[in-house]
Amino acid sequence: MNQITPSGDLNSLIKNEQIIPSLTNDKKYFFRSLNYLGSKLRMLDTIGEVIDELSVPDDVVVDLFAGSGSVSRFLSQSRTVISADIQEYSRVICSAILTPSNSIQPEEIVERCRSSSMYAALTASCAEVIQYEEEAISRAFQGLPLQLCEFLEEGSFMKSADENYRNCTGLLERALKTSYQKLMGLEGRREGSCTATLYYGGIYFSFKQTAAIDAILYEIENSDVRDRDTLLAALLSAVSSAVNTIGKQFAQPIQPRMANGQPKKGIAAKVKKDREIDIFEVFFENLQRYVELNCSGLPHQALCMDYSEALDQLPKDTRVVYADPPYTRDHYSRFYHVLETLCLRDSPTVSRTKIGGSLRLSRGLYREQRHQSPFCIRSQAPQAFTTLFDKVSKLGASLVLSYSPHIVREGEHPRVMTIEDLTALARNHFQEIYTVCPGEFKHNKLNSRKNSFEQKPHGEILIVCKN
Ligand SMILES: C[S@@+](CC[C@H](N)C(=O)[O-])C[C@H]1O[C@@H](n2cnc3c(N)ncnc32)[C@H](O)[C@@H]1O
Repeated sequence: MNQITPSGDLNSLIKNEQIIPSLTNDKKYFFRSLNYLGSKLRMLDTIGEVIDELSVPDDVVVDLFAGSGSVSRFLSQSRTVISADIQEYSRVICSAILTPSNSIQPEEIVERCRSSSMYAALTASCAEVIQYEEEAISRAFQGLPLQLCEFLEEGSFMKSADENYRNCTGLLERALKTSYQKLMGLEGRREGSCTATLYYGGIYFSFKQTAAIDAILYEIENSDVRDRDTLLAALLSAVSSAVNTIGKQFAQPIQPRMANGQPKKGIAAKVKKDREIDIFEVFFENLQRYVELNCSGLPHQALCMDYSEALDQLPKDTRVVYADPPYTRDHYSRFYHVLETLCLRDSPTVSRTKIGGSLRLSRGLYREQRHQSPFCIRSQAPQAFTTLFDKVSKLGASLVLSYSPHIVREGEHPRVMTIEDLTALARNHFQEIYTVCPGEFKHNKLNSRKNSFEQKPHGEILIVCKN
């Protein structure tokens, strides 16, 4: 087994000007694309310091589990970045923040979407459910919340049609059926043109909002290829800020009732606040943010593929691989499945689950084939990390691995791998391993199995592995 050796103190190296920082705190390179669990926005300073130590400007560095792209964007200020993630929505966002299109006129395109015949056709098709939804919200404000509760639980084209409307009362059934028939006419003329409305209307967004999302998607499909990723990324950002869930993820639609079946207090206000957001307006605001992004002009790339396959394709001169895999049994694909479907528009089969004794479509309308990461599965994670360590060390690059030590509290899922297990595996492939904690600018030697990070109050740390 390789011996671990500590390297010099990072702070003193910087002070002695052996390292000239090139990854600076330039706020132009801090970009929040999505409300994203585990975004590394808050530790970019530390990541920058470590990567400055391991590489020089213009070197090729990789953001291997790129997610919302925060690290890719930050590194792109002075490194050539290759970002990779298994999810298409991540590729779209990374492509847009690394190399945004410079030929988009936000006002023009948003106006085109708003006044499009597609938007008119979608809102006309949904007229009955839009009216029903608005009535339900306004009755809830008058102290009559049951119509809104039923709407939030059953007001979905996908679900109600699958269950032959058996859980809907007459008025809701009529509104859904009438609108559904008209929508199927549109969908029949162009497959995928009603994806947001059919799958997510009523559940995650108001029907007015999904009509706008579908109209924008239609416009994007017909736009110049070089503009598409930037336009789509701006729509994903808009959708992420508008979604009507707690926490702005897509794992749990709003539950309108308490365990005893009574309507929750404040439900009308929460629903109205999110569902009144004008999608065209937030799309416009986000589009402006993307088109104004500075671009370093380096030949960045954004890949949508499995980490192992991506590692096989990296150029020989790759200097550093930054890796931020998931560490708990919660698959990211569950939290962001809506973004994936909006990018793919592939009419996915929805997974089923037992609800109240019968097999129904999952409440969150998850994709049946959503990605299951080996890093989230206890029996597969050691092999997945072994592959990561092996391929990066054979490439001759350094690995910077994000890890969040964690004291298990009630209701939280433990890490699939402990830091001790991880570093034991890493030692089979790298000569030198140390950790860096944000705010401490200090390397912690990892030369003893007794040196447990699990009980220390660090938020996130970086495990640096060098050959
Ligand atoms: C912790 S998040 C990354 C967060 C990211 N650093 C940021 O700041 O937004 C983990 C990411 O790993 C991706 N992922 C999981 N398994 C993967 C695999 N086998 N190959 C590639 N990406 C994977 C997920 O899709 C998710 O985006």
